[in-house]
Amino acid sequence: MKVAVIGADGRLGRALVAALEEAPWTGPSGPVAWDRPDHDLDDAGAADRVLGRDRPDVVVHVAAWTDVDGCALDPALAMRRNATAVGELATACVERGVSMVLVSTNEVFAGDRAAAYAPGDPVGPANPYGASKLVGEEAARAAFAAVGAIGAEARDGPVAADGEPDSPLAGRVAGPQLAIVRTAWLFGSPGTDFPSRILVAADRALADGRPLRLVADEVGQPTYLPDLAEAITELLGAPVFGGTHHLTNRGAVSRAGWARETFALSGIAPEIEEVPLAAFDRPSRPPRHAVLAPTPLPGGEPMRDHEAAMADYAPALLRWLATTAGSR
Ligand SMILES: NC(=O)c1ccc[n+]([C@@H]2O[C@H](COP(=O)([O-])OP(=O)(O)OC[C@H]3O[C@@H](n4cnc5c(N)ncnc54)[C@H](OP(=O)(O)O)[C@@H]3O)[C@@H](O)[C@H]2O)c1
Repeated sequence: MKVAVIGADGRLGRALVAALEEAPWTGPSGPVAWDRPDHDLDDAGAADRVLGRDRPDVVVHVAAWTDVDGCALDPALAMRRNATAVGELATACVERGVSMVLVSTNEVFAGDRAAAYAPGDPVGPANPYGASKLVGEEAARAAFAAVGAIGAEARDGPVAADGEPDSPLAGRVAGPQLAIVRTAWLFGSPGTDFPSRILVAADRALADGRPLRLVADEVGQPTYLPDLAEAITELLGAPVFGGTHHLTNRGAVSRAGWARETFALSGIAPEIEEVPLAAFDRPSRPPRHAVLAPTPLPGGEPMRDHEAAMADYAPALLRWLATTAGSR
């Protein structure tokens, strides 16, 4: 199966290309990696051009404008990149019979309740980034629904594989499918993720002799890039992968709690002052508790706890911290 990844040079894109290279079903040449020169989100003709050129069977759309404050300052550009471009890609996929996996976000939910969100729960983004990602989901569903594709019907979770009890798919596994993969709080890219930024902030606070302010009332699910990449690869290896999937590592934690876990792994011990989200004045306000209820993977195994993933990541994180100490 020929798989193309859009946004292949981003954080998740790199992890996904690496995971797909290990999958035997991607063939000896592995996945096709598309980045900005191949597929510019500001170019309405880009999707049709690359699909015609490289002819994949499946496209995994990872690219997005992920600068949440930038999206808040220019919501029209956020819509162009995270919504309109997705609709154009979905339409081009449908026209060519190509399946699509769209990576989306927990920020399509308001995050104003204690219970975790199932795929079919009401959406209500709290900021322009989340709003643009939601419109992108809807544009993809509309394009795939027009041809009755698997996974386009509703936000009701993964579709059961043909042959399973209650499968609605008898005789329907051929044809393009749409999978929407919502995830959250990605880490595993030393230098650009939350654990890296909080370690640098802790270093500065220690040097300045002041407490480090940490947000206590924003809760999410730290998710390790290689784990998510493997989960998406597992999904794609199944005959039926359409539907809306919630894929995160297990365990919800506040920003302050995640920072403490990071400090425990690194041996850095700043003085901590817990503050509310409102203490930081930013153009974009994240949802407070947009926690995703996980959906099953084809193999039946849940993704592991984020603490175990953090422990695996710690050596690379600490190496990065040590090698950049002089340049910060
Ligand atoms: N990071 C998170 O915590 C998080 C949480 C939930 C969901 N997600 C979703 O997961 C996906 C991957 O996120 P990530 O953190 O890996 O993102 P990332 O590192 O910011 O990578 C984004 C990719 O999109 C490309 N891109 C951005 N603007 C573009 C444009 N105008 N034209 C063409 N390409 C463009 C980037 O290319 P350049 O390198 O050329 O800019 C990059 O390859 C996104 O869909 C995001 O919405 C992320």
